[in-house]
Amino acid sequence: MLRIALIGCGHIGTVHSYALAQLTRAGLVDAAVTTTFDPDRSRAVRLAEHHDAQAHDRLESALDAADVAWICTWTAGHVEAVEAAVARDLAVFCEKPLAPTIEACRSIADLLRDRPHQVGLVLRHAPVFAAFASAVASGRYGRPMTMVFRDDQYFPIQGMYGSTWRKDVDKAGGGTLIEHSIHDVDVMQWILGPAVSVRARTAETFGYPGIEDVASLAVDFESGVTASLTSVWHQVMTRPSTRRLELFCEDAMLWTEDDYLGPLHVETSAGHEEVMAPAPAWIDRLTAPEVFAKSVAQYAEPGKAFLDALVSDGAAARGTPDVDMALSAHEVVDAAYRSAAANGTPQELPALSGGSPCAKIG
Ligand SMILES: NC(=O)c1ccc[n+]([C@@H]2O[C@H](COP(=O)([O-])OP(=O)(O)OC[C@H]3O[C@@H](n4cnc5c(N)ncnc54)[C@H](O)[C@@H]3O)[C@@H](O)[C@H]2O)c1
Repeated sequence: MLRIALIGCGHIGTVHSYALAQLTRAGLVDAAVTTTFDPDRSRAVRLAEHHDAQAHDRLESALDAADVAWICTWTAGHVEAVEAAVARDLAVFCEKPLAPTIEACRSIADLLRDRPHQVGLVLRHAPVFAAFASAVASGRYGRPMTMVFRDDQYFPIQGMYGSTWRKDVDKAGGGTLIEHSIHDVDVMQWILGPAVSVRARTAETFGYPGIEDVASLAVDFESGVTASLTSVWHQVMTRPSTRRLELFCEDAMLWTEDDYLGPLHVETSAGHEEVMAPAPAWIDRLTAPEVFAKSVAQYAEPGKAFLDALVSDGAAARGTPDVDMALSAHEVVDAAYRSAAANGTPQELPALSGGSPCAKIG
């Protein structure tokens, strides 16, 4: 059995903890959380109790007794935890964003590239985006032409997120673009291939220095496709996290307004079709209450994929997305911040390996 050290026991650590416990109890993975660590010891103890695990007072001792590090600290804590895990030769699941600065993201990529790892850009495991990517890759709707992505969320220092670090640029690296829309940038490159340049404008409506609450991006892709991304943190408390993705191809408009199961809508000259994107059948073996079912499924699926890869491929295991896909999204985000700082001047992107369209899922 793989022993998992859960490092960082706040909001997303709790979601992962719950999803992993469900997978273990349903016999769907040969793995279990056995140690926890958080500088806020009460959090580490609370999650350890869910698993009959041991809460540790030090990062090092939690990792010493594990095979896999599940890193869910706030963003600025990822580097230290990755370094400590790699020093112990552990497999690593690292939450997104990789780190607050592009330099630190590149360091994490260098540390993880040749080791078993996966990054928490979980939209790669959402059935609706898999259906979206595969519909585009099939070519049945003609060439992609232009994409419109909108991502909005209430400013996540309140409500169910309740995390003050998201208004601290040293801990978060920025606002809505790096913290939330790093997911969207990854999906854009998954569906459309590598981006080559970006222009951006940002705003700090709520006055937290370095924490943009609006980011408007115009992205050009190697294929010639263009895309716009609007990312916003507002104060509409009924909207915790909402996305709408539209893509015009030569012969169809494709769109979805749900970032897990869809449906994927397809309109062609022949009419409108709803493509259902079902979750895997094993999800029915989880027993989460209805109110948590979507969140648990969203995180159980990437977690199971990584743990299965570790069991089948051992040291050769590379989850999806890997650190180069994540780094590629970070390069777009970093170029967007540079563009915004230069009054919207276009910024070219380095050629990287992370943006191949329709990379394999799971
Ligand atoms: N993949 C996703 O969909 C998703 C969703 C939400 C958050 N996240 C990411 O997960 C990370 C955590 O976000 P959150 O919402 O859980 O924040 P949070 O504030 O709820 O929890 C963060 C926890 O990390 C702990 N921590 C800080 N430094 C640490 C260290 N060095 N070692 C161990 N623990 C440490 C804090 O005490 C806190 O308990 C962030 O990087 C965030 O962007 C990802």
